[in-house]
Amino acid sequence: MASKMKKEKVAIIGSGLIGRSWAMLFAGVGYQVTIYDIIPEIVEKALKETKLELESVEKQGTIRGTLSAAEQFACIRGTDNLKDAVTDAIYVQECVPERLDIKKKLYGELDGLVGPNTILASSTSTFMPSLFSEDMKHRAQVLVAHPVNPPYYVPLVEIVPAPWTKPEHTTKARELMTEIGQKPVTLSRQIEGFALNRIQYAILNETWRLVADGILSVKDIDVVMSEGLGMRYAFLGPLETAHLNAEGMLNYCDRYCNTIYAVSETMGPTPRMEGKVAEQVAKEMEEMLNEHLQIIGTNVILVPYESKHVEKYHQWMKSEELQELTASEPLTLEEEYQMQASWRNDEDKCTFLILDRQRYEDTKDEIGALVGDTNIFIQSHPEAEDEQPQTDRLAGEIEIMIAEPTARGKRYGWEATLLMLLFGVERLQLQHYLAITKDTNAKAMRMFERMQFRETKRTAIFQEVSFERPVQDDWISWMKDQAGSYTIVPYPG
Ligand SMILES: NC(=O)c1ccc[n+]([C@@H]2O[C@H](COP(=O)([O-])OP(=O)(O)OC[C@H]3O[C@@H](n4cnc5c(N)ncnc54)[C@H](O)[C@@H]3O)[C@@H](O)[C@H]2O)c1
Repeated sequence: MASKMKKEKVAIIGSGLIGRSWAMLFAGVGYQVTIYDIIPEIVEKALKETKLELESVEKQGTIRGTLSAAEQFACIRGTDNLKDAVTDAIYVQECVPERLDIKKKLYGELDGLVGPNTILASSTSTFMPSLFSEDMKHRAQVLVAHPVNPPYYVPLVEIVPAPWTKPEHTTKARELMTEIGQKPVTLSRQIEGFALNRIQYAILNETWRLVADGILSVKDIDVVMSEGLGMRYAFLGPLETAHLNAEGMLNYCDRYCNTIYAVSETMGPTPRMEGKVAEQVAKEMEEMLNEHLQIIGTNVILVPYESKHVEKYHQWMKSEELQELTASEPLTLEEEYQMQASWRNDEDKCTFLILDRQRYEDTKDEIGALVGDTNIFIQSHPEAEDEQPQTDRLAGEIEIMIAEPTARGKRYGWEATLLMLLFGVERLQLQHYLAITKDTNAKAMRMFERMQFRETKRTAIFQEVSFERPVQDDWISWMKDQAGSYTIVPYPG
């Protein structure tokens, strides 16, 4: 075991998210890692959590490096003293918050503590190294080693020298990164945004322009990446892609350079990601997300409505009682599939199906565990009297159906409605709710009254009763209390 460990010391300054990842990566190949944080309790917490994390990745088979979890953890120690942390270290990886004043102050302190050979590498995502090293005696030892979150799983590290960084330190940092299993790239000189963010921002800017100009919806712009460009770029860089897209790079340039130039000339000025467009994108993102999320409550699980659920849904809707209660016409199976697809594409509709959690966990049969559905139709609500009558507020019309007769009387509808109302408030930013029920549906009317909705309208001709409820803090607290604990997690499908 001793032979796998190294004698050289590496210091991690700042034991937050990034610092912990770096500590694991350096310990993975046996460096003696000392972690430091300005808050001593954070060092203790980081040590405890790193031990658990190492054990967990070892169990999952995703542990990095050449040593066991126990051997790696034996390489890591903590300290609450900066001098102790950096004395005799060959390499310091700084991971303090992204604030120039904090970085400048820390590098001032490090300048008085390190010898002439210690490399001082910053994890900064945005600051060029000259910004915090200019006045240092040891400035030739400072560079940026910018990781990508989470560094334990994403190997790229951008090595960025300041104008005064000694090339031998840049080379040594690159070698170290390779040794710990990361994939370093070295910029020849510092530049704003380094490489990754410059490319990321170019993509974001064009994405933004296409959405702001109404060319593509938020949903479709992501499809361009996830189902197209991103698939290529997961394996090849843009230049290699170009090389393979024609008979070599020169042929590609020959064929496409005029087109690429002409299209690029139409791209327009750099957009500002703010204002009305930002609000609209945020709203559409939130709405899209429910396609990939499930809500796990105490007795029910809410899952997105997918085509695999349609047959069961179709069976339910053959019931005349349900047709009457939901005011819906019988559909053919084909029409039901079309309806499911149109709901899914409708950005103003959010649908979850309800599973009996116990049954699902016992059988792992999702279709067998389905008991009903709940929907929110999003709309703007201008005329609410309670507050800000002049401004449109985002409102949701909530619906709930417990279709399985055996699931009734178990308060599944109560819990599912609360979870859906809370989802609408937290994820869709709804500020007002409506509920419309048949006047014969005494159960639903009682439920909305007990949920503190107020009856606002009766329409005799349709035999309907409308209820409303503004979203207020005390009501949210009450709903959370009633709903019990729940988690919103990705839906594996
Ligand atoms: N989080 C990311 O996605 C990400 C990705 C790449 C790079 N980075 C960069 O990594 C650095 C750290 O980010 P993070 O997400 O780990 O932040 P974090 O907030 O999780 O952790 C920062 C830690 O630094 C400690 N700290 C504050 N001042 C200190 C000081 N003077 N000396 C020692 N410790 C101090 C804090 O107590 C905290 O524990 C930032 O520069 C950030 O830009 C972050």
